[in-house]
Amino acid sequence: MFEPKITETVQNIVKEYIKDGDSVIDATVGNGFDTVFLAESVGENGTVYGFDIQSIAINLTKEKLNENKLNERVVLIEDSHEYVNKYVNDNIKVAMFNLGYLPKGDKNVITKPDSTIKAIEKILDLLESGGLISIIAYYGHKGGMEEKDSVSKFLRELDSNKYDIISIKYENRVKNAPIIYLVRKK
Ligand SMILES: C[S@@+](CC[C@H](N)C(=O)[O-])C[C@H]1O[C@@H](n2cnc3c(N)ncnc32)[C@H](O)[C@@H]1O
Repeated sequence: MFEPKITETVQNIVKEYIKDGDSVIDATVGNGFDTVFLAESVGENGTVYGFDIQSIAINLTKEKLNENKLNERVVLIEDSHEYVNKYVNDNIKVAMFNLGYLPKGDKNVITKPDSTIKAIEKILDLLESGGLISIIAYYGHKGGMEEKDSVSKFLRELDSNKYDIISIKYENRVKNAPIIYLVRKK
């Protein structure tokens, strides 16, 4: 469950919420590791909607999915996740956000507080009862702390009658170690 890599820890948690045939969202496709994981988890009858604003991320992930013969269950969308309603009408079981910049990519292209919060808000409406949103906030980069603080404030103000929200953080790591937020719809 608790792995050396934070992304694997989150995948282990998320996996428990997904069953065959579910519709899920990868809100920040990046190098496609979570997209492939989600595609494997939903099975051949499920659907993954993957968003990224960078064509390099979309193309890289397309290749990964083709190599793994998972492309038919994934809809890749080169657009900002804040426009999720333009592309997704299904009830969503899980959505994953991995904030920050594309590893090994352009460090100036980062997720931003406004669009991240709009996307979370819209996905909360699409989320099934019992569904989960995971968010990993990296905030060592310029603009990261501001985004983490905005996301944290937004989540703290959500109605506790509708959502259970927890965070997981490292207690013994250097400052700016990533933090995990988990939002479960009641
Ligand atoms: C930390 S990376 C994601 C890593 C990814 N989960 C993986 O497994 O490799 C963050 C990604 O979010 C993307 N991004 C930034 N702003 C975005 C937005 N408004 N909508 C969708 N994706 C965005 C970036 O282009 C970048 O690829």
